[in-house]
Amino acid sequence: MDYLEIEGGSPLCGEVRIQGSKNAVLPILSAALLYPGVTVLENCPGISDVASMLEILKGYGCTTLREGNKLIIDAGNLHSGRAPEDYAGVMRSSIMLLGSLLGRLGEAFLPYPGGCVIGKRPIDLHLKALREMGAQLQEEPEGIRAVCAHPKGARIRLPFPSVGATENVILLAVRAEGTTVLENAAREPEITELCRFLCSMGARIRGAGTGTVMVTGVQRLHETEFTIMPDRIVAGTYMLLTAAAGGKVILRDVPLWQLASVRKTLAGMGVRLEGKDLKETKKGEGKLDEKASDVLLFSPGRIRGGLQISTAPYPGFPTDLQSPLMAALCTAEGESVVEERIFEARFKTAEELIRMGADICIQGSRACIRGTGRLHGERVEARELRGGAALCIAAAAAEGKTTIHQYHYIARGYENIIRDLKALGVVVNYG
Ligand code: UD1
Repeated sequence: MDYLEIEGGSPLCGEVRIQGSKNAVLPILSAALLYPGVTVLENCPGISDVASMLEILKGYGCTTLREGNKLIIDAGNLHSGRAPEDYAGVMRSSIMLLGSLLGRLGEAFLPYPGGCVIGKRPIDLHLKALREMGAQLQEEPEGIRAVCAHPKGARIRLPFPSVGATENVILLAVRAEGTTVLENAAREPEITELCRFLCSMGARIRGAGTGTVMVTGVQRLHETEFTIMPDRIVAGTYMLLTAAAGGKVILRDVPLWQLASVRKTLAGMGVRLEGKDLKETKKGEGKLDEKASDVLLFSPGRIRGGLQISTAPYPGFPTDLQSPLMAALCTAEGESVVEERIFEARFKTAEELIRMGADICIQGSRACIRGTGRLHGERVEARELRGGAALCIAAAAAEGKTTIHQYHYIARGYENIIRDLKALGVVVNYG
């Protein structure tokens, strides 16, 4: 049994606290391997991707203990054996272990990474950058064999600001000899969070969150206790859910300063955001403090369409919210165009939305969405994590009952979407 039943069509009312960030905690778990001792992480989301990553860490000799949302990792006895393929093979973030295993042990073997089926997802940028730091990497049929006894600082320029490649370079650079200068680095908030974590362990990093990151290798790191920031993608998902279903919702612990492009989109839809820390302009812009805050959302029920949104690296509109956005726009008044510029195969969810009555036309990397007002309940299938969340949005806004199969995709990144939907007044059951 692996499905959700959602009874949609009623406006939302209630409040939800935003969980810790998936895309921050995963590279941080990898970074914990760099220190041969205990690391304590607070506010770790209870998602299946974290559980898989912990299994992989155990495969390399770590011990892990979870106490609620607190994780204690002891990497004192790390070894370079093979990661359990069942987990590494299905999880994209396992590639993130390459930089830290090399930094700590000088060698590693990693099964090829898996992850959501949203495009080709090559790892060439990771491999090229690590080679520039002295890594010898051999692509074998079952995975990558890597050796790097003496990583060296280097000047590296990424042809595209890949999040994962930026993280891998930083992880190896922390233990390399000399300074690494990474140009055209990804600027996603999760990179900044990884660097904050590494600095709390004694790393020397400048420029995190900008296009040029400078890392000076250190001989030793030390113990740390660190709290994972809230998840901007989960917050954005629940904002778009409110937009589509209508109603009045309070979201707590929202990293609003990381959501400027989403706030602007919501303002264009006619969704109102209010909050003590929100110095709102009419267009949803404005400079905000870098601390999580509470926000009140009002959505009229029938949102405005007529939007043209393209996904882009941060601070652009996040590709991870493209499917949730598409689901919301299906219910809008008017025609919108969404362009996907990061992952080429990220329109799979459109087929399921069409089954629910949506009018979507895909041409290459562009989706034209004609708002049809109400969708109707249907039997649909999640094909990947964020697409699954998009179906929850469509289901909550639709008339009647929707059954969403393959719930396990959603559990990869949402701690307990059933609890959260119930807290907002949605009738939902798990089967
Ligand atoms: C991370 C996020 C994911 C998010 C994505 C973009 C995690 C665990 N996942 O994924 O949720 O959607 O950033 O914000 O943090 N590329 C190459 N060669 C490479 C690496 C990437 O061509 O070696 C391409 C990819 O195919 C894709 C684009 O670059 O088209 C972006 O990928 P990247 O930024 O690396 O995303 P991930 O780190 O995989």
